[in-house]
Amino acid sequence: MKSARIIAIANQKGGVGKTTTAMNLGHALARQGYQVLLVDSDPQGNLTRYLGTTSDSLLDELYLSKKRPTREALFPFLRRCSETLHLLGCDSNLAGVEYFLFSREEREGVLSRWLDLLRDEFDYILIDTPPSLNLLTLNALVAADDVLVPVQPEFFSLEGLSKLRSTVEGVRARWNPRIQIGGIVVTQSQQRRKLTSEVVASLGREFGPALFRTQIRDNAAITESSGHSKSIFEYAPRSNGAEDYLALADEFLKQEAQPS
Ligand SMILES: Nc1ncnc2c1ncn2[C@@H]1O[C@H](COP(=O)(O)OP(=O)(O)O)[C@@H](O)[C@H]1O
Ligand SMILES: [Mg+2]
Repeated sequence: MKSARIIAIANQKGGVGKTTTAMNLGHALARQGYQVLLVDSDPQGNLTRYLGTTSDSLLDELYLSKKRPTREALFPFLRRCSETLHLLGCDSNLAGVEYFLFSREEREGVLSRWLDLLRDEFDYILIDTPPSLNLLTLNALVAADDVLVPVQPEFFSLEGLSKLRSTVEGVRARWNPRIQIGGIVVTQSQQRRKLTSEVVASLGREFGPALFRTQIRDNAAITESSGHSKSIFEYAPRSNGAEDYLALADEFLKQEAQPS
């Protein structure tokens, strides 16, 4: 029996590589035979687009549904991208859901109640989140076991991280005792820059073993691949980007294998 690990990919800063990491880590895990569900919880719908689909119904309807969460009600929302990769997509309608949620009781736990129904269907559920700490992000944090944080090697990234960390602590205290920042991954890194190594050193001091040793290098093929709605493995299997995301998936799986 499977017991999915739910991972929210979060950073309130935009353009740091959240969606790219959801896409390529998801593909890397799915290629190793794990059953993976990608959840697009950003109304920009980039992950849904990267996967080459547009969705009509989906996540916003789940949020608005008055039905009692059941697996039968949920399955029609899942789109099968391959044998092992599935998507719960969204479109810009999801932006309206926030407003609706404000007036609802237990508004932080809506996504969690639905996704918990899928724990025995998947090995990994990766939730992509919007570039803000809003109710959609909060729902992802309440649903998740772990937060994976992509960061760019810039000095102001560190400030953003302390805000995210205190949000995660607030979520742990009130709603979700499991939640922790399970991983920080440096993306779009230019390893020859002095700034990169300085920022990586301070991240290491701040987050210790949660900082992935693997860095995702700045790599044009990654940007191109998303424009073509392909994972980096399909688009440029021999690129630095493909190498880095494979290494990240390996490190991620090793970390998972360790008792926490
Ligand atoms: N390692 C990388 N090298 C080059 N471009 C990247 C890399 N990671 C992401 N990008 C590009 O940067 C932009 C923002 O990435 P994205 O994953 O959409 O960020 P976020 O979801 O955090 O807003 C996209 O155009 C993406 O293709
Ligand atoms: Mg994004």
